[in-house]
Amino acid sequence: MGLQFTVTERTDRVSEADRAKVLADPGFGNHFSDHMVRIEWDSEAGWHDAGVAAYGPFQLDPAAAVLHYAQEIFEGMKAYRHADGSVWTFRPEANAARFARSATRLALPVLPEEDFVQSLKELVAVDKAWVPEAGDGGEASLYLRPFMFASEAFLGVRPARKVTYAVIASPAGAYFGGDGVKAINLWISTDYARAGEGGTGGAKCGGNYASSLAGQLEGIAAGCDQAVFLDSSTHTYIEELGGMNLFLVYKDGRIVTPELTGSILEGVTRSSILELAKDLGLSPEERRIPIQEWKDAAESGELAEVFACGTAAVVTPVGELRWDGGSCDHRRDGHVDEVAGKIRSTLLDIQYGRVEDTHGWLTRLA
Ligand code: COI
Repeated sequence: MGLQFTVTERTDRVSEADRAKVLADPGFGNHFSDHMVRIEWDSEAGWHDAGVAAYGPFQLDPAAAVLHYAQEIFEGMKAYRHADGSVWTFRPEANAARFARSATRLALPVLPEEDFVQSLKELVAVDKAWVPEAGDGGEASLYLRPFMFASEAFLGVRPARKVTYAVIASPAGAYFGGDGVKAINLWISTDYARAGEGGTGGAKCGGNYASSLAGQLEGIAAGCDQAVFLDSSTHTYIEELGGMNLFLVYKDGRIVTPELTGSILEGVTRSSILELAKDLGLSPEERRIPIQEWKDAAESGELAEVFACGTAAVVTPVGELRWDGGSCDHRRDGHVDEVAGKIRSTLLDIQYGRVEDTHGWLTRLA
């Protein structure tokens, strides 16, 4: 049997008027719902004290291992409000499985899939009012952030014997602002790699995101929105953007994404797009992609589209690619991101229940 959750509803919830103001223009990651989930683990009792209570700060010992050795993992998911008011999430079993793989890589305990999914249901049951309508931009949702960290106060380097799991929820619009379909420009990070062979790149842990920030800053200084990271051994092959996977679309119908080498995160949106591409009559490929191939195909005109994808980013078209001393742009006069647009709308239609979920990807939360 799974964990039993104790639910302590707060009596001082955010007022309906203030919540409505937030939901009208949530942005990304700025606002949080009234409650959070928390489950404790220790090496003797295992998982225990599962509960939902008021959202609020943790009391953390300054020696908590996560603050020193970054023993931490997380997930990113969304709760979608359907037209009939019901609330659903997308492929939670895939996130639960990845969370378990990340836990194993970071020497953290595995939370069973059943408890992971139940923790989402428990939170959304009390905070259902925080799930926005899809809205004008068409992608408003309640972003769910499950995470786990080493809470034991101990400075020796070994896996923590006390760990905390939590879920917080944040109403979210488009990750890049606007209506989510404006193209972003990318910077090729050559000085910094995000992850290396044998490292933690395939796990969803905070350290990977911390290591992407210097490259991202370099990109922003060069007028770009994000950085694209290359493999750390040869600086030749495209990996990912740090918080998103990448697809190249060719005029002949091939849609190509970097293969999973262990240093790339296996995105749930990425693997869903590989499935949807077949439904749309495209030819998906997972293989190593030299960055030079992008430059050459943009120059020759063979490259039709590039897009980034992820739970937060959904499907976001990419425009210019810049690097130290050069740039290229596959877009020509009259360019339309047709494939990205089709994949984006197909995915959103499934997530918001506007078309039949033929893949069985949705799970009802509330
Ligand atoms: C997501 O897409 O959910 C991510 O985790 C990317 C980023 C917001 C960290």
